[in-house]
This record gives sequence, C-alpha cells and structure tokens, in this order.
Amino acid sequence: MKIDLYERIWMGLGVVLIVVFLGIMIVMNAAHAIQPPSHIETVDPKTIWDDPRFADLGVTLTPEGAKVELVAQMYAFLPAELEVPVGKPVTFRMSSADVVHGFEIVGTNANATLIPGYVTEFTITFPRKGEYLIVCNEFCGIGHHGMFGKVIAGGEPHEASE
Ligand code: CUA
Repeated sequence: MKIDLYERIWMGLGVVLIVVFLGIMIVMNAAHAIQPPSHIETVDPKTIWDDPRFADLGVTLTPEGAKVELVAQMYAFLPAELEVPVGKPVTFRMSSADVVHGFEIVGTNANATLIPGYVTEFTITFPRKGEYLIVCNEFCGIGHHGMFGKVIAGGEPHEASE
C-alpha cells in the first residue's frame, strides 16, 4: 500500500500531538497534585434525613476551623446560607436526597458533584472576608436555574453589602 508523503506527514503530526497533549496532562497533574476524588463514603438517600451524619445541618465551629453538613435536594441547598470563618480550613460534607446536583462556590476552586448515595467531602480555606455565591452547576430539573446559596466568610450576615 502506498501512502502519500503528505498523508504520512499528517499522520505523524497527529501522533506527535497526542503524545504532546498526554505529556502535558501527566506533567500538569503531577505538578498541581490533581487527583480524582478518593473519598468514598455512602449514605442512603431515602434515610438521609434520619442519618446521624446529617442530623446537624449547617456550620459547626471546630478548634481547627469549621465543618459544614449540607444536603441538596430539588431545588435548594439545605441550609442555603453558611457563615464560615476566614483563613481557617472549612470541611464540607454533603450529599443529595434526590438527583445529582452540583455544588460550586463561585470565585473559589470549590466545585463538586453531589450524588445521591454518596458523601462528598472536601476542605477549603476562604482567604478573605466576603460573600460567595453557591450555584448548582448540574442540570437537575425545571428549577435548576433557581438553585443557589451563599457562603458568608467571616462576616456579619445581615450587614454585608447587597
Ligand atoms: Cu440542583 Cu441544578
């Protein structure tokens, strides 16, 4: 079989690009310690409201910082408003009572998926005082666009500028 010179060049270029892109992904992941989620903990969405791990929804201050327990359901985050400390680690523990929801804290790198049956956990430190919008970034039904919440980092919730 005869392969034209230009065809061979294009094929070679395709292989080179694949190798380069793969290399970039491997190097960037190693440099930024990007990993797939490793926290696997299950919870039965049918009994989540009676589950002791989600009995105390909202923010609890701890000696290190704070922890947040939150349940998402169509079309709200419960609770929708979280007042957390600034400059200290805040650990979020969350799940969904119905369908898959997103949990993105706009302006931070917190962006997680809340999957019924699983507990999503991550820790984040809010570097400065202020209000952060929480949005559901996973289409979850007709009320999806109205599903949002708020993080108030280190502030008086009702004095904050609107
Ligand atoms: Cu919840 Cu979209």
